[in-house]
Amino acid sequence: MSGVRVLLLSGSERQGSFNKKLAAVAAEAARRAGAEVAPLDLRALALPLYDGDLEKAQGVPAGARALRDALLASDAVLLSTPEYNGFPTPLVINSFDWLSRLQPEDGKPSGLGTTANKPLGMLAASPGLLGGLRSLNYTKQFLSMTFAMLAVPQQFALARANEAFDEHGALKDAKQQAAVENVVNALLRVAGALKTA
Ligand SMILES: Cc1cc2nc3c(=O)[nH]c(=O)nc-3n(C[C@H](O)[C@H](O)[C@H](O)COP(=O)(O)O)c2cc1C
Repeated sequence: MSGVRVLLLSGSERQGSFNKKLAAVAAEAARRAGAEVAPLDLRALALPLYDGDLEKAQGVPAGARALRDALLASDAVLLSTPEYNGFPTPLVINSFDWLSRLQPEDGKPSGLGTTANKPLGMLAASPGLLGGLRSLNYTKQFLSMTFAMLAVPQQFALARANEAFDEHGALKDAKQQAAVENVVNALLRVAGALKTA
């Protein structure tokens, strides 16, 4: 879907992260389908762990505004996150918790206003047998309830992620590649339709 701009997020930014690799595979599929992809490193936002006293003393950190602005510039969000003990990572939750504290300012909407009705595609990757599948419902609940994002029903959890990629970062298994493309294509369809609605 040409003209759609996708914000690409990974719930892990560690070196060699399988979710970053999966996000890169999804990004390539989105570009091939004509979308523009803008990656954002959540770790680089340098958001401290949310703390009400810190907010009172210093306000909402600049990183939250960077996330808001990246969302404002995007038609859709593609997120690949590992699960930590069955939940999306603190990097994801903390980033969006800070985002939710932003009020409208400078002609820009609030943090929650920025995410509302924004299409979301979800992926997960893990060396485990479930690939992070257990966390996807929580990710969806978190981002679609308060943040009012429109999670497309297609989702994919990459199991045995430590064996899934070749030396170029491509998925070895064509069925897994097709599953990623299924999520990406659904996301682009919804985002494209909303953009022109
Ligand atoms: C605190 C913690 C909790 C974890 N919990 C799970 C889990 O519930 N399910 C799972 O499949 N893997 C779990 N793992 C393993 C991660 O899936 C694995 O570290 C994975 O490589 C993280 O994703 P990344 O490669 O994108 O950094 C956990 C790892 C950590 C550090």
